Amino acid sequence: MQHHREFGRFAEDYGRYSLIQERVAKALAVKVGGGFRRIVDIGCGSGGFFRAYEHPLTYYCAVDFSETMLDLHPDGERVEKIVGDFDDPALYRRLSGIDFDLLVSSSALQWSRDLDLALGRIAALNRPVALAIFTSGTFASLHETAGTGSPIRSEEETIDAVKRHFDAAVDTLRYRLYFKERLSMLRYIKRSGVSGGRQRLTYSETKKIVESYPLPYLEFEVVRAVSVNQSQKSP
Ligand SMILES: C[S@@+](CC[C@H](N)C(=O)[O-])C[C@H]1O[C@@H](n2cnc3c(N)ncnc32)[C@H](O)[C@@H]1O
Repeated sequence: MQHHREFGRFAEDYGRYSLIQERVAKALAVKVGGGFRRIVDIGCGSGGFFRAYEHPLTYYCAVDFSETMLDLHPDGERVEKIVGDFDDPALYRRLSGIDFDLLVSSSALQWSRDLDLALGRIAALNRPVALAIFTSGTFASLHETAGTGSPIRSEEETIDAVKRHFDAAVDTLRYRLYFKERLSMLRYIKRSGVSGGRQRLTYSETKKIVESYPLPYLEFEVVRAVSVNQSQKSP
C-alpha cells in the first residue's frame, strides 16, 4: 500500500516532524483523564499517545501497520506491539480476544480507506474510545494555493461518521504552525505524515506552493471524540 511505504520511509525523521501530532495526543490524553489501565492504540506510530498519557498502566497494546514505526514506539514489559491494519477485519478479531478498557487512535484514522467501516468495527468492540482524526481543514490554504483538493475527509464528514457509531463528546481542535522559511515548511509537509503519507502533491504542485503560498504558517484541523463512560473505567 502506497501510504504505508511513505510512513516507513520517513520513520527515522518522524520525531522531528511530529510536533502537531504530539500536541494532538496531549489534548486527547487530557480529555480522557486518568483511570484507564489497559489501552489499545491503533496507528500508534512512535508513541505520541503512550508518552502523553501520564497515568499508571498495566497493559499497552501498540498497533501499527508499519513495522518501522512500531520499532520507534517505546518498549516495556507492559507494552505489546502488534503489526495490524485498521482497515483489516482480522485486526478486530484479534483485538476482541484482548482484555482492554480503552481504545485510542490519535492522528491516524484519517488514512482509513473507509472511515465508516473502521469506526463500525471499533464500535463493535464495545469499549470507551478516544479518537483524534485529522480533517481537510489541515493544510486548507495550501491546497487552495496549489489548486488541489484535500486527500482527507472534511470536518463535517468526520463528525457525522463518528456520531453514527459513538455517543461521544466531540469537538474540533485547530492549530497553526509557523515557519521562518519555506524550505522547512515544505519538509514538514512531506515528512510529517499528516498529509504527506500519500504523497499526493506532484512536483509541479509543490513548486507552485513554494512560489506562491502566501502564509507563514500551516493550518491543522482535528476532530477529537471521546466516549468515556466512567462506569466502564478500571476500578
Ligand atoms: C501521523 S502518525 C500518528 C502516530 C501516533 N498515533 C501519534 O499520535 O504520534 C499515523 C500512524 O498511523 C499509521 N497508519 C496509517 N494507516 C494505518 C492503517 N491502515 N493501519 C494501521 N496503522 C496505520 C502510520 O503507520 C503512522 O504510524
